[in-house]
Amino acid sequence: MPQLLIVPSILSADLTRLGEQVKEAEAAGADRIQVDVMDGRFVPNIAFGPLVVQAVRRSTSLPIEAHLMIIEPERYVADFAAAGADVIIVHQEAALHLHRIVEQIHQLGKKAGVALNPSTPVATLDDILGDLDHVLVMTVNPGFGGQKFIESTLTKIARVRQMMNERRLDHDVEVDGGISTATAPRVVEAGANLLVAGASVFAGRASVAEAIRHLRASVEQS
Ligand code: DX5
Repeated sequence: MPQLLIVPSILSADLTRLGEQVKEAEAAGADRIQVDVMDGRFVPNIAFGPLVVQAVRRSTSLPIEAHLMIIEPERYVADFAAAGADVIIVHQEAALHLHRIVEQIHQLGKKAGVALNPSTPVATLDDILGDLDHVLVMTVNPGFGGQKFIESTLTKIARVRQMMNERRLDHDVEVDGGISTATAPRVVEAGANLLVAGASVFAGRASVAEAIRHLRASVEQS
């Protein structure tokens, strides 16, 4: 099982001091930073673009994930690579030619992840899994931070991990949406090792540092 990584997502950060929040997360031991990209078409919300990835790039040395919740992601993969993203995640549901997009991301020297919305079958990864660097199992319907974890995704996480094990792939399984000290142990038990957390890190009562420490401890102590 790959190493447990905590990936704060900046959607719920205090954007009036984004750089400080990113640095707080890095100082607290975050392993990556995720930038949520939303176009108002693939998801009912509009969020960040390449300029925000550039700003985050200037604020941290951590790897940056660009989570493209957009239609026709192939149009912007190069822009996010140039902006400083290390990992580019596209949605299975938004990619007409997914193999070609994964190749495009790799040709840009970046890691390629594919995200599955809650109703998208794991079987859609059958013929692309070996080409990926990781799989993101959405544990909410994408578009907003602070949503409720969808319980039925637990078995889906386990199926993705099993599919990888059967093919002797040691890829990361990432989860995103509603990840907190309550759900983190359960998703790791199911097979996830990359935990994206927005509201539980940036929008809770605890400081960013305490929130990240609590999140990691919730898994290590379970
Ligand atoms: C939701 C986004 C998530 C969000 C984090 O569409 O993809 O990354 O920022 O969600 P919470 O706040 O639930 O951790």
